[in-house]
Amino acid sequence: MKKGKILVTGGTGFIGSHTVVELIQAGYEVEILDNLFNSKIGVLTKIAELTGVSPKFHDIDLLEMSKMEKMFEKGGFDAVIHFAGLKAVGESVEKPLDYYENNVSGTVNLLKCMQEYGVHKIVFSSSATVYGTQDSPRYVETMQAGVNLSSPYGRTKFMIEEILRDVATSDPEFSATLLRYFNPVGAHPSGLLGENPNGRPNNLMPIIMKVAQGKIAELSIYGNDYPTPDGTCVRDYIHVVDLAKGHLAAMEKMTAGVQVYNLGSGKGTSVLEMVKAFSKASGEALPHKVVERRAGDLAEFYADPTLAGEKLGWKTELSIDDMMKDTLRFLHNNASEEEEDRKQSCKTLE
Ligand code: NAD
Ligand code: UFG
Repeated sequence: MKKGKILVTGGTGFIGSHTVVELIQAGYEVEILDNLFNSKIGVLTKIAELTGVSPKFHDIDLLEMSKMEKMFEKGGFDAVIHFAGLKAVGESVEKPLDYYENNVSGTVNLLKCMQEYGVHKIVFSSSATVYGTQDSPRYVETMQAGVNLSSPYGRTKFMIEEILRDVATSDPEFSATLLRYFNPVGAHPSGLLGENPNGRPNNLMPIIMKVAQGKIAELSIYGNDYPTPDGTCVRDYIHVVDLAKGHLAAMEKMTAGVQVYNLGSGKGTSVLEMVKAFSKASGEALPHKVVERRAGDLAEFYADPTLAGEKLGWKTELSIDDMMKDTLRFLHNNASEEEEDRKQSCKTLE
């Protein structure tokens, strides 16, 4: 028996695609909305391969209100998991209006459709970035968020959190679960799904992957003079499959009003430790050099995941070694697929 019908926005993206797999495997009916700005249509085939189900796909931009309304009219959704958004911190500093329009206006459109068509439940992809700078590196949900945020990207996440709180105040039937992710990395253990952003990557693991493929000569480590054990920044890396399972738990344990949960492991790992773990998994040294600090980076932060453990019955299970092994498997699969695509396009040109 189906448990309910979920609309997943951003469902062909990195975290969305892994969550779609978990939802289908847990018995939910899923429809995906994505404008494919930062993901590939081929992800749908991979989802079908893994689950035996081809979820309905809507190639729609959150800003296209008339298409959104048509989809909701027919949808009959019980809940929405909202991943769709732009996420490059540096780019958001250069193009703030694109970020406010896409992330904030896009979410307002989504919420208007939900309201019009009687959908009262939403799980939202927030970020540890909403904590800004705190006195302690162990971030807990009770800390004040939204102060001194370092980028427009972070501000869009905090604004959306506030919008969801206002909607909940206006509508007693409304439930919103805000999931504050720490640093999602890794790939599906099948090697079929993983992080494959369009354009030049900004985050550590996608850059490490490009270095391993020889597409970027070496990893630039942004500073080794931070007040951390080895001088490089410390983050809480979370395997994307653990993160996807966190969404399932959030969906199943949703209660009325607004709930906020950190999704992280509670453990910090430095950039140098990540480089060593990748080299151990691949059996090859990863070329790297230390460069200047990157503006806006904090020395160290990690999650206090106690609340998610208590209320959602969720905790991370996969290790840094699992993240590296699964990333390498995806890299290997993807490299052979890219080569196949290249050969096909050469044949077409002949
Ligand atoms: P992603 O870029 O892989 O996935 C986002 C998807 O949303 C993409 O497929 C993109 O095409 C789609 N999208 C963007 N704008 C859209 C729009 N206007 N209409 C329709 N589709 C649109 O990113 P991800 O890493 O899977 O992140 C998912 C969510 O989690 C984002 O909201 C991101 O801000 C948040 N988040 C990510 C991280 C991280 O480090 N990956 C950390 C914290 C929070
Ligand atoms: N790093 C390097 N070299 C690189 C890329 C990154 O040394 O080429 C370092 C960074 O300085 C940082 C660590 O690797 O210390 C992780 O950097 P990422 O860019 O992967 O991640 P951030 O911690 O900067 O940001 C991530 C998400 C944001 C989110 C933030 C807080 O990308 O969306 O965590 O949750 F807002």
